[in-house]
Formats: sequence, structure tokens, C-alpha cells
Amino acid sequence: MKKLQKKWALVTGASRGVGLRVAKALAVEGCHVIVHSRNLNNTREVVTQLTEMGAPVFPVAAELESAEAVEDLIQQVRNISANHLDILFNNAAIMTPSRALFEPTIEDFTRSYLVNSIVPAKLCDAFLPGMLERDWGRIVNVTSGIADQPNLMAYSCSKAALDRYVKDMIPTLAGTNVLMNLLDPGWLRTDLGGENADNHPDSVIPGALIPILLEKGEGSGKMYQAQDYA
Ligand SMILES: NC(=O)c1ccc[n+]([C@@H]2O[C@H](COP(=O)([O-])OP(=O)(O)OC[C@H]3O[C@@H](n4cnc5c(N)ncnc54)[C@H](OP(=O)(O)O)[C@@H]3O)[C@@H](O)[C@H]2O)c1
Repeated sequence: MKKLQKKWALVTGASRGVGLRVAKALAVEGCHVIVHSRNLNNTREVVTQLTEMGAPVFPVAAELESAEAVEDLIQQVRNISANHLDILFNNAAIMTPSRALFEPTIEDFTRSYLVNSIVPAKLCDAFLPGMLERDWGRIVNVTSGIADQPNLMAYSCSKAALDRYVKDMIPTLAGTNVLMNLLDPGWLRTDLGGENADNHPDSVIPGALIPILLEKGEGSGKMYQAQDYA
């Protein structure tokens, strides 16, 4: 039996890019995959593909800029999984516009922090207690290796805040079989990464699965680079 067989997984932002590849890879591993996007139309194709593979797949929709929709998403996931989520792949994110030095707006910062750090943190907060109770869980928070690009300051700071959430949760998870780590997918030719990126989005697999396939003792709080495994 495969290690992740019948585990319940939520992949946010599963309609395209990294999330799409991860949803398919988890289906191959035998997971029940809950695929999230902003609109059910956006996950229609991945639902068809996973269904054709014989994988149990459940679409959910939520605009992550809305606190109400996030609460609703948490409830939907609880209902679908009978309150038993095993794997949380926090992947959905927004890239704010490139700005001249010193010119990012308050809106750039608030939107980036909300979608890229606060919502992933709140999804962790929602599902970590159940994982700890059952003593099994894998959480991957997708961050970025972005550096020295002040034109994208709001985006990079929002990822740093997410990194900090993971770091400060390490003592809570110590000694448990609930592992939470970070993944840098590398610079990919997705809608977010743009067409000039170095890597094809398919290159995120198998690296993106490494922090999900970890053994208990391998711990939390590390940054995994998907391109190291490409
Ligand atoms: N691509 C890169 O070069 C790169 C580099 C470093 C880190 N990353 C990180 O990797 C992750 C995935 O990036 P990607 O390149 O795969 O992105 P992508 O291709 O642009 O896909 C973004 C996904 O997030 C969802 N999403 C975006 N805004 C949302 C919102 N406000 N509410 C709900 N869902 C939303 C989208 O859903 P819809 O289809 O419904 O819009 C889509 O499924 C992100 O965390 C990103 O920061 C990417």
C-alpha cells in the first residue's frame, strides 16, 4: 500500500501552475484530493482528469481575499473530509504589480499579506488541532526564494511572514507526527511566474512531494527546494 493511500488532502490554488501538478501527484499517491480555486469552473478540467485516473476528487471554491469565503472553505473541507484532513498544501497566492522603488501601495501589502500569509496561517490554525489529535499530518506552505527584488516588496514580505508562521510553530509540533515545512518551487513559467521564468511548471514534481512524504523524525520548519529534485 502506498504511504499516502486514502489520506485526505487539500490543495489550494489547484486549477493551474504548481497546485495543478501537486493535485495530480497526490492523486497518483492514492489521496482523496480536495481541489480549490476561486471558481468551480476553474477546477473543472483537473476534476475531469483526476476522475479519469480513478481518483476521488472534490472541488471547492473560495475567493481568498474574503474572510467570509475562507470560513466557508474551512467548513466545506470539514464536511467533505468528515473533519479528517491529513495533508494541507497551502499553495494559492497572488503576485501584486511590479512597482518603482518605494512605490508599493498599502493595498499591495494588505492584499498580499491577506492571501499569501494570513489565509494560509488561518488554514493551518483550522486543521492543525485535528492533525495533532490524530498524531498525523503534513502541511506544506509554499513560499518563495525571491530576493533582492524591491519592486515586488509586498509579495516578498508576505512570503517572509508565512515563513515566520512556520518557524514559530516548530516547538508546538516537536516530537509529533505532524510536520509543517516550506517549499520553494523555483522560478516557473506559470501565470504568476511569467513566461521568462527558468523552469517548466512540471519540474515542481517530484520535489513538491518531498515534504509530504517525510517520516516522523524528519521534523518541521525546513525549506525544501523543488528544483533540487528536478
Ligand atoms: N511561479 C513561480 O515562479 C513561483 C516562484 C516562487 C514561488 N511561487 C509560489 O508558488 C505558488 C503557486 O504559484 P503558481 O505560479 O502555480 O501560480 P498560478 O499558476 O498563478 O496559480 C495560482 C493559483 O492560485 C489561485 N488563486 C490566486 N489568487 C487567488 C485568490 N485571491 N483566491 C483564491 N485562489 C486564488 C488560482 O486560482 P484561480 O484559477 O481560480 O484564479 C490558481 O489556482 C504560490 O504560492 C507562489 O507564490 C511561484
